[in-house]
Formats: sequence, structure tokens, C-alpha cells
Amino acid sequence: MPLHDIEPRADCERLVRAFYGRALSDPIIGFIFVDVAQLDLEAHVPRIASFWETILLGARTYGGGAFAPHAALNAKVRLREGHFAQWLHLWCDTVDELFAGERAELAKAHARRVATAFLGRLRHLPEPSAPIGGLTITQHGPGSH
Ligand code: HEM
Ligand code: HEM
Repeated sequence: MPLHDIEPRADCERLVRAFYGRALSDPIIGFIFVDVAQLDLEAHVPRIASFWETILLGARTYGGGAFAPHAALNAKVRLREGHFAQWLHLWCDTVDELFAGERAELAKAHARRVATAFLGRLRHLPEPSAPIGGLTITQHGPGSH
């Protein structure tokens, strides 16, 4: 069967659930959701679905303020370019696997814009001040003695 475009909201939810199915077990970014944020998926999915419904389907179900939780997260674990690259990789793969069309393209394009904007804003914030989860960070290599 040919893939159809994203419509209606139920498709946004399906996309978001499929994305988290990958993201939570991802070797590069999974720990950020599971261990650092301890994400409550059932509470989170409707908010994220509203975010995408607002962008893709012209709904007004998302109120804004998407950056703040990422700034809070970044205070616990530095969110780097490689994390965003992996996030985008998983997102675009998930979109392409499930949907095809103008909205599917927009879902990928807008995610890239938001990721670039978030990364740019996070760069201005200080490094996390304390190591997480009782890990001891040791310095190695030249300059550590
Ligand atoms: C269909 C039109 C669009 C809709 C409905 C839309 C909607 C949204 C929403 C809801 C957010 C989250 C805002 C927040 O949480 O405060 C957002 C963020 C963003 N959008 Fe769009 N957008 C659209 C088109 C565009 C276009 C055309 C661009 C750029 C060419 C763009 C660039 C961005 C960027 C860079 C952010 C992140 C801003 C930040 O928090 O740093 N958007 N958009
Ligand atoms: C390294 C990349 C990213 C990580 C690790 C990450 C992680 C998270 C986590 C853990 C939350 C939940 C925070 C909480 O409720 O306590 C969250 C919320 C959210 N994220 Fe991300 N995120 C990333 C990138 C992005 C990108 C690129 C977008 C946009 C396309 C995005 C959109 C959102 C939105 C809309 C929310 C909901 C904010 C709200 O509750 O209103 N995230 N993210």
C-alpha cells in the first residue's frame, strides 16, 4: 500500500509514538529520555502530538514554550550537536517509514529548523555544574596533571 500523508491528529500521535519507540532505546540519546529526564511517555505524547498538530495541521492545540524543558535538561546533561543530529536522524527515518507527502516533508524540515534554533540557544547557556547520577568525572590526557 502506498504511504499517505500525515492527517489527522491520530497520525501525529502514531508518528510520535513510533519515534519514541526508537529514541528511548537509542544508544546515543536514549539515556537522556530514560535516565536523565525520566520521561513519562503517556503524559508527554499528547503534548508532542499537539506540537505537531499545530505545525502540520494548522490546529492551535500547542501553547508554545518548547525550548524551556530543553534548557532545563541541558542543565543536567549538555545537549550537543551529535545528540541533535541523532534525534533528527531518528525523526526523519520514522517520518519516511510511515508517511509521504507535503506534511511529511514539512515535519522533517521544521524539526531541522527547531533543532538548529535550540542548539544555537543552548550554546549560550553555561555547562552543567554538577555531574549527574553520582558519576565521578575524571580528566585524562595532556593537561590533566
Ligand atoms: C506552517 C507554519 C508554521 C507553524 C504553524 C509553526 C509552528 C511552530 C511552533 C508551534 C513552534 C514552537 C514554538 C514554541 O514552542 O515556543 C515553532 C518553532 C520554530 N519554528 Fe515554526 N512554524 C511554522 C513555520 C516555520 C517556518 C517557515 C520557519 C522558518 C523558516 C520556522 C522556524 C521555526 C524555528 C526556528 C522554531 C524554534 C524557535 C525556538 O524556540 O528557538 N517555522 N514553530
Ligand atoms: C537532543 C535532542 C532532544 C532531546 C534529548 C529532547 C528531549 C526532550 C525531553 C526529555 C522532553 C520532555 C521534557 C519534560 O517534559 O520534562 C522534551 C520535550 C519536548 N521536545 Fe524535545 N528533545 C530533543 C530535541 C527536540 C527537537 C529537535 C524538537 C522539535 C522538533 C523537540 C520538541 C519537543 C517538544 C515540543 C517538547 C514538549 C515541550 C512541552 O512540554 O511543551 N525536541 N524533549
